[in-house]
Amino acid sequence: MNQRKLLVVATGNPGKLKEMQLYLQDLGWELQLKPDDLEIEETGDTFIANACLKASVVATATGQWSIADDSGLMVDALGGKPGIYSARYGTTDADRISRLLQELGSAQNRQAQFVCAIAIARPDGTIALQIEGICRGEILHSPRGSGGFGYDPIFYVPAGQQTFAEMTPEIKRSYSHRGQAFQALIPQMATIFNPK
Ligand code: IMP
Repeated sequence: MNQRKLLVVATGNPGKLKEMQLYLQDLGWELQLKPDDLEIEETGDTFIANACLKASVVATATGQWSIADDSGLMVDALGGKPGIYSARYGTTDADRISRLLQELGSAQNRQAQFVCAIAIARPDGTIALQIEGICRGEILHSPRGSGGFGYDPIFYVPAGQQTFAEMTPEIKRSYSHRGQAFQALIPQMATIFNPK
């Protein structure tokens, strides 16, 4: 018999829930937001550590399977900054972009990468799966394009000849760190849950 499995998404952000639903729609899991009052401090020092921490805390608190992601931008010439602090680099997307462009200044080396880590925890909090997706690109001197979010307008992907903000969601997904991570995750998800 086909049984739907509940997977609690370790985020309070309905946009992220929707995005994950889209990626995982064919797998037969029912996705649900974490309880509102469950706050998780991201104390890890890597993307994977933070994804595992969030998935584990939510799984233990709810007694359900949980999925979490953590992502950000690492700029080579800034020693990998803003990295795990990408969301906390400013109060708005415009702030974050202008701070990054200012710190990078006229540096010749504009190489950078987006990273997305995803972890799935069992109801007892142990980690069943962890995976990382990476997309390499270059930081432009000024924003280009109006789609996407975050640092998308300054992240140029040479293979696609566009910034993330100039790409359609489908094209962005085919290059993006998140797209890569989910592509690697999906075949493995089929193997972790075996109903008796
Ligand atoms: P979080 O994984 O939701 O905590 O996101 C971390 C931060 O990294 C976001 O607030 C964005 O600033 C940045 N970020 C992560 N993924 C992307 C992306 O695909 N495009 C642009 N910015 C991103």
